[in-house]
Amino acid sequence: MDARSSSSSSPAIQSHGVLLLNSNGMDVIYSGDRITYKVIGGVIDLYFFAGPLPELVMEQYTELIGRPTPMPYWSLGFHQCRYGYKNVADVEGVVAGYAKAGIPLEVMWTDIDYMDGFKDFTLDPINFPLDKMQKFVDTLHQNGQKYVLILDPGISVNKTYGTYIRGMQADVFIKRDGVPYLGQVWPGLVYFPDFLNPVSEVFWGGEIKRFQDILPFDGLWLDMNEISNFITSPPTPNSTLDDPPYKINNAGVSRPINNSTVPATSSHWGNITEYNAHNLYGLLESKSTNAALINVTGKRPFILARSTFVTSGKYTAHWTGDNAATWNDLAYSIPGILNFGLFGIPMVGADICGFSRNTTEELCGRWIQLGAFYPFARDHSDKYTSRQELFLWDSVAATARKVLGLRYRLLPYFYTLMYEAHQRGTPIARPLFFSFPQDINTYEISTQFLIGKAVMVSPVLKSGAVSVDAYFPAGNWFDLFNYSHSLSVKSGKYIKLDAPPDHINVHVREGNILAMQGEAMTTQAARKTAFQLLVVVSNSGNSSGEVFLDDGEEVEMGGADGKWSLVRFYGGIIGNKVSVKSQVVNGGFALSQKWIIHKVIFIGLKGKRLKRHELETINGTNLNGNSVIKESFDSLGFLTVEVSKLSLLIGKEFKLELNF
Ligand code: GLC
Repeated sequence: MDARSSSSSSPAIQSHGVLLLNSNGMDVIYSGDRITYKVIGGVIDLYFFAGPLPELVMEQYTELIGRPTPMPYWSLGFHQCRYGYKNVADVEGVVAGYAKAGIPLEVMWTDIDYMDGFKDFTLDPINFPLDKMQKFVDTLHQNGQKYVLILDPGISVNKTYGTYIRGMQADVFIKRDGVPYLGQVWPGLVYFPDFLNPVSEVFWGGEIKRFQDILPFDGLWLDMNEISNFITSPPTPNSTLDDPPYKINNAGVSRPINNSTVPATSSHWGNITEYNAHNLYGLLESKSTNAALINVTGKRPFILARSTFVTSGKYTAHWTGDNAATWNDLAYSIPGILNFGLFGIPMVGADICGFSRNTTEELCGRWIQLGAFYPFARDHSDKYTSRQELFLWDSVAATARKVLGLRYRLLPYFYTLMYEAHQRGTPIARPLFFSFPQDINTYEISTQFLIGKAVMVSPVLKSGAVSVDAYFPAGNWFDLFNYSHSLSVKSGKYIKLDAPPDHINVHVREGNILAMQGEAMTTQAARKTAFQLLVVVSNSGNSSGEVFLDDGEEVEMGGADGKWSLVRFYGGIIGNKVSVKSQVVNGGFALSQKWIIHKVIFIGLKGKRLKRHELETINGTNLNGNSVIKESFDSLGFLTVEVSKLSLLIGKEFKLELNF
C-alpha cells in the first residue's frame, strides 16, 4: 500500500494498493517511486485498489481475497510457549508460576516435545503420557484456560504409525517421479500431505478428529509449512523447474530454488507442479485445518500458521517466525506485524522476548511491554536458550502485570477491532499513516503503531533508554495508564516522553470512546466484570466508539442468528452540557448477559468544574441518587470527570448528561 499527498498546499490524499496475484517465485523490488516484479512463472493478474483512503484500500483488497476470519475471544489473552518443555510437570509448573505471580495466562502451548518421536497426532508415552495430558488439559479448562499444540506437515514414514498408514491408503502425499516425495524433518524421513488434493482434507480432518477425541486441544499451530525440509534433493537433470534460469532471492541469497524444500519438479493433485504451487502450501494447509476444526469442534477455530499467502487471513493467525532475542528484532517486530495487517492477516504477533539466543531481563521487560499490544501475544523461545517465562524476573513480572492488565481491560476494544477486520478488512494494529494519511511525517514511522484508530503505542526499542522520542499527530492525547498525563499537539511533532523501565507509553486520542472492562487472570473472568466507558472528549466536540459482543466462539461473527450485539457510542458537548449516548444496533445478546456500564469517565474536558448535582440521564434511572462524581485537573488544565456507581445496561439505549 502506498499513501501520498498530491501537493503540500492541498493535501488531497491518494492511497492505493497493488496486488500481483501470482503463486510463483518472485522478487519484488520497491525503490520509493516504483515497484518491480520479477516473476518466474504463472499468469499476470494485477489488481489496483483505488482507495483513496487506506481503510478503503483494505476494504477493496479483502473484498477480493476474502475478509479476515474472526478469532475466538480467548485467543486475545496472553499465550506461553517454548520449544524444549521437558514433560507434563514442567508445563504444569509454568502454568502454576503464572498463577503464583498474578500474571494472566490464557493459553499454554506445547511444541514438538509432546510428540512420540516427533510424529504428529502422537504423545510421548514417557514425558507427555495421555492420562497426564488429559488431566492437564482438563485442569486448564476448569480454570478457564486453553491448550494449543503444534503440528508439522511432514508425516513420518513408518509402517507402524497409523497416520502414515491411512495417508498411504488415501494416497494423499506429494509425489515426485510417480512416488511420494521423501523429505526429512523432525521425525526423520517424511512424506508431505498434498493439500491441493481434496482427499487430503478428509485425511487431515480425520487425523485431527481422532486426536481431538482423546485430547481436547483448543487450537492448532501449523509450523514448517513453507514447506521446510532438512534435506535438498538433487535437481532433475536439465529441468528448468528444478533449476530455472533466473534465480530468485531465496532466503536472502540467490541460492537454488530447491534448497531446503520440496523440489520444484514434485507434483500435486491434477499434475500441478510444486514449481507453481509451492507458495500455496501454508494457505491450503490452513484452509483444510480450519474446515476440520469447525467440523470437529463446531466452534470458531484458532490456527497459527508460519507460512502464509494472499487469503491466509481468512483461515489463520500468523506469527513472524524465528526471531532472535535482540533489540533489533524487538524493533523489527513492529513493521512485521503492521505488514501482515495490511496483507489481510490482522491476528499477528512476534515471539515475545525473542525465540533464539538468550534474552535478558531488560529486553524481556521491554518486549512484554510492546508484545502486550500485539494483536497476538505469545512468549516463545528456542530449546537451546535460557528460560524466559515472564514470572522469572520480579521486574518483568511487575511490568507484565501492568501492561497485560491494560490489555485485558482493552479486550472489548481488541475484539471489536477483530469484528471490524472481519467486516471490512481493517487491520487491528495499524501504521500511523493509516489514521493520519494527511500527515506525511507519519509515512516513515515504524517504531510506533496504533491499535484501531484510538490507541497509540510508543515503545522503548533500545537498551538502556529511559525515554522515547514519539511522534504525535495533531490533537490531544492522553496516557491510558494515567489519564492525567496529557499532550496537546497543534501540528504533528516528536515529543520526548519519559519511559522508565516499568513504563510503556500508550496514549488515546481525543474523539474516541472506548468500552473497557476490568482486569482478570483469564479472558473468561474479564468478561464477567462491569464495563467502563472512557469518553475522550474532542476539541471539536464530538467523539465516538463502538463495542461488538458475542459469545466469542461461535463460528460466525455477527451472523444471521443475531446472537451478538453491536452498540455505538456518541459523545458531545453542546453549550454547557457534555453528554454520551448509545445507539443500540443489536442489543439482545448484551441484555441476555446483563452487561452493564458501571462507570463513565470523561477525559479531555476544558474549563471549569462541574456544577454539582446536575447529572441527568435518560433511561428511567435516577442516577443522582447513588452515582458518585469525582473530578480532577491535569497539568494542561484538562478536566477528568468520573461518574461511578452507575448501572447502565449495554443492550439498552441511554443518554448521560452533565452540566458545567
Ligand atoms: C521452528 C518454529 C519454532 C519451533 C521449532 C520447533 O523453528 O518456527 O517456533 O519452536 O520449529 O518446533
